[in-house]
Amino acid sequence: MALLEVKNLTKHFGGLTAVGDVTLELNEGELVGLIGPNGAGKTTLFNLLTGVYEPSEGTVTLDGHLLNGKQPYKIASLGLGRTFQNIRLFKDLTVLDNVLIAFSNHHKQHVFASFLRLPAFYKNEKELKAKALELLKIFDLDGDAETLAKNLAYGQQRRLEIVRALATEPKILFLDEPAAGMNPQETAELTELIRRIKDEFNITIMLIEHDMNLVMEVTERIYVLEYGRLIAHGTPDEIKSNKRVIEAYLGGEA
Ligand SMILES: Nc1ncnc2c1ncn2[C@@H]1O[C@H](COP(=O)(O)OP(=O)(O)OP(=O)(O)O)[C@@H](O)[C@H]1O
Ligand SMILES: [Mg+2]
Repeated sequence: MALLEVKNLTKHFGGLTAVGDVTLELNEGELVGLIGPNGAGKTTLFNLLTGVYEPSEGTVTLDGHLLNGKQPYKIASLGLGRTFQNIRLFKDLTVLDNVLIAFSNHHKQHVFASFLRLPAFYKNEKELKAKALELLKIFDLDGDAETLAKNLAYGQQRRLEIVRALATEPKILFLDEPAAGMNPQETAELTELIRRIKDEFNITIMLIEHDMNLVMEVTERIYVLEYGRLIAHGTPDEIKSNKRVIEAYLGGEA
């Protein structure tokens, strides 16, 4: 059985079918791409998987547990982490605090201890801080731990988003256009980082990205959406030469 099983997933917005009858799966340890023209339904699919929207039809199953109808925080605690297409950080907090908040959202059982400031809290806080700095180091952000998030360069903010998602120790990480707005140098660094995340954290990743070089370079399989429907699925080489995909991308010009 696959780690994540998506069956006949559909989302209507009024008369628009943003996601239509999508069936796909993610196996443990895979790095899978999700591509398609603007408005194809990629972000909506992530929103369905992470509980932001309820599906109109279809099912999402993680490790055999049905996720339909569960709240986003519950789905996050079951192991689905994500970043957003539009950066969502606490801009007026430090880089370190942004990560600590992501931890604390995930360790709600410690709320009572932290409220009373019990010794366990201090121990825990120290450990969490060390862990946060360790994560930040991997993303070359440890030197900016005390910098306000809003003062980071754009590419650094995008990396901090990924750190925050990893802080929740997801089984599956969904990245929504992590290279959007990055310059070529930042994109090249991010490509390396995504590879490292997969190897060092041993997690499953699904990546939405318009930068085809990045997608083709790091993913093992790719799903292609157009107008909410899956139009192709295969290895990067298969997708590159798929006639249907080429048509979708060239649109009216084909
Ligand atoms: N909350 C919503 N209400 C109504 N329509 C929506 C909503 N969210 C998305 N849509 C519509 O659903 C379709 C799919 O949008 P979505 O954002 O999922 O596309 P996308 O593939 O992520 O595009 P992009 O590459 O531009 O990010 C679009 O036509 C969009 O306008
Ligand atoms: Mg999108």
